[in-house]
Amino acid sequence: MAHLNNSLFILSLSLIFLQFFHTAVARGGQRDPGFVDIPYAASRRHLSEENHFQKLNALARGYMTNSDLEKAIKAFHGRCRHISRIYSIGRSVLGVPLWVMEISNNPGKEEAKPAFKFVGNVHGDEPVGRELMLLLANWLCDNYNKDPMATLIVDNVHLHILPSMNPDGFSLRRRGNANHVDLNRDFPDQFFSINNDIDERQPETKAIMSWIKDIRFTASASLHGGALVANYPWDGTKDKSKSYYACPDDEVFIYMAKLYSGSHYNMSLSKEFDAGITNGAYWYPIYGGMQDWNYIYGGCFELTLEISDNKWPPANELHMIWEYNKRSMLDLVASLVKSGVHGRIFSSDCGYPLPASIAIKGINYTIKSSETLADYHRLLAPGHQYEVVATMPGYKTRTTTIVVKEELMTLDFILEPEITIADRFLPNRCVSRRSLNIFAVISKSHMQVSLTLILVLAFLFFLMKRKAIVNHFKVRKLIRQRRVSAV
Ligand SMILES: *[C@@H]1O[C@H](CO)[C@@H](O)[C@H](O)[C@H]1NC(C)=O
Ligand SMILES: *[C@@H]1O[C@H](CO)[C@@H](O)[C@H](O)[C@H]1NC(C)=O
Ligand SMILES: [Zn+2]
Repeated sequence: MAHLNNSLFILSLSLIFLQFFHTAVARGGQRDPGFVDIPYAASRRHLSEENHFQKLNALARGYMTNSDLEKAIKAFHGRCRHISRIYSIGRSVLGVPLWVMEISNNPGKEEAKPAFKFVGNVHGDEPVGRELMLLLANWLCDNYNKDPMATLIVDNVHLHILPSMNPDGFSLRRRGNANHVDLNRDFPDQFFSINNDIDERQPETKAIMSWIKDIRFTASASLHGGALVANYPWDGTKDKSKSYYACPDDEVFIYMAKLYSGSHYNMSLSKEFDAGITNGAYWYPIYGGMQDWNYIYGGCFELTLEISDNKWPPANELHMIWEYNKRSMLDLVASLVKSGVHGRIFSSDCGYPLPASIAIKGINYTIKSSETLADYHRLLAPGHQYEVVATMPGYKTRTTTIVVKEELMTLDFILEPEITIADRFLPNRCVSRRSLNIFAVISKSHMQVSLTLILVLAFLFFLMKRKAIVNHFKVRKLIRQRRVSAV
């Protein structure tokens, strides 16, 4: 008897703790009118865990299971091969692949186009997003070359969709992953040294972090439930206060968030959030979130979208919720090619693409053009004049003034090398620069270049400086080109 009492006591303690934990750290669940309160209220009435789980299962009726989701992703790809590719970015704690659908007219190819990502089901108990992701992918496929918006997106953006970041949490009917970790608190933080231990980091978080390093996303959105609002950085404050904390691109984020809420069925009519948008820290600060990490370390402008007050609306309402969000989702993705400034950066002497930096005067934030194609994509709030600054070590900085309107603006930069004394003695600057660049790229991406490889490269470098080899290269290039034009 005493033993039973003890267990009950421990159970109630942990439930009280859970509830405290929930209200203290939820993003999008702080004042949940609907579902989330049910298990806690129920647990106060000492319902057993099993009963609780059954209730959750009843709510999940009609939603795709993890294996349904995998089948749906593969079926989508099977149906839409011409504009899609599927790949997995890793596995969850329980080994479920984290499938991504890439939608583009050239899926998997590196092109001078911006990339957007959607991430659904970050919290296991917020499943609406994962359903909408499949509806979005299929809508794009069905409407490509029929609807101008679908065509615009497929032809000009690489859209990557991860329907579920947390399949384990979904199948366990809980917010955290299989290790009880809230994945939206598991990223490194700008203010506090939390989550810096790589061994402690969850596999789902690791997968997202390396994905962001692999693919240069210009913007993204994660989908949550429990509220109806478009949330933008910063999510945290330096002093942990609950107050508006603007990031350098506050205006751009307000523009993006308003674009979403304004195109939504009724998000902008919110009584709780002015215009249906909010600064994260103003709502309530969180630390280790995915959104801020994307902006700081990924060069990616991410919104956190709360798309449904009810975390588990009946499955027969999902199609309606998709209709409410459809225009917003499409507009947000299309904003990558309907606004901001885009272009490529080349060197004036040899025309090579340069992996340069792009900054805007007055905004303390820098993006980089890609290593290979040197394209950059900089979102900006329309209606202003900006000074765009392109910098690259060894080249003269260039600044151009532009006026951004609600339309795509293209701006290429051609940077002139700073002539140094050393350059004058190089027999063929273009070839030398190129081999130097190749060397830089190789040594950067492979930190452990072996000594032999260095020697081989040095030897090649020496050879390439010799005219004979240069000529040989030119001949080979000509042959290659001819072959291409004959195809
Ligand atoms: C938006 O519409 C849904 C569905 O009709 C409703 O439940 C919700 O309260 C509405 N929200 C606002 C802010 O109008
Ligand atoms: C610009 O941002 C960096 C962090 O990204 C910060 O260290 C630096 O102090 C900022 N500079 C200014 C002038 O605010
Ligand atoms: Zn959430």
